[in-house]
Amino acid sequence: MNSAEDLSLSNSPNRKVIVAIDGPSGAGKSTLARHLAQHFSLLNLETGAMYRAFGLKALRAHCPVDDPKALEILSTETTIHLEPGEAENRVFLDGEDVTGQLRNQIVSDAASRVSVFPVIRAWMVRRQQQMGESGGIVMEGRDIGTVVFPNAEVKIFLDAAPEVRGMRRYEQLGQTGRKPEIQPEEVIRELRERDFRDRNRADSPLRPAPDSVLLDSTDMTLEEAVRAAEAIVEAKLTTAHTNS
Ligand code: DC
Repeated sequence: MNSAEDLSLSNSPNRKVIVAIDGPSGAGKSTLARHLAQHFSLLNLETGAMYRAFGLKALRAHCPVDDPKALEILSTETTIHLEPGEAENRVFLDGEDVTGQLRNQIVSDAASRVSVFPVIRAWMVRRQQQMGESGGIVMEGRDIGTVVFPNAEVKIFLDAAPEVRGMRRYEQLGQTGRKPEIQPEEVIRELRERDFRDRNRADSPLRPAPDSVLLDSTDMTLEEAVRAAEAIVEAKLTTAHTNS
């Protein structure tokens, strides 16, 4: 296993390795990122949580989530901070820990809507680049390998069939006690809607970076996907070391 100290690979000598994980909702990015971060002694940063936090802020402020001008003004009055933790990131919105309030359908929908606007994306990307500038991180989202860190040493695009991703999300809702309120078909339908928006927005649509490794977890158990991802990271780091 490599340690974080071994992982100084990029052209800037003081920057440690960056592992970018992109892909649609429910593909298993968060779980994978968490495991890779533990295995390779890296920090794990979940950028989706930042869009969710801003979606929550807009909802609380009764700011229309389809109005870029109003959202831009709101963004100037907003601070979002991620703290890497063992299980998940703790998310602070204007200093308040909102971690437990981000994973529901209403906030998911708001996050997906606010994330289409270039002005909001540019703000988020700047914050993400600042947070990751020293490297030593696994960062997951939709545009990490394409926009946030196009020079990341390792890029994984994690995908799975929409029905499989929808059922995974449904099971997650069960763990938060919301399962009886919603049918699996509805979860799959909402996930398809968000997918459509993520893949078709004009600014930074979700798509694999040309130099990413595609990992399709449709027929994999979590354990298998984690092992496959570890092998991808090991192989990339070995090649990068050999060539450096
Ligand atoms: O990964 P997630 O489901 O927590 O992301 C929430 C929303 O934020 C999702 O609709 C896509 C958007 N997002 C984005 O546009 N860019 C990112 N880097 C991360 C998330």
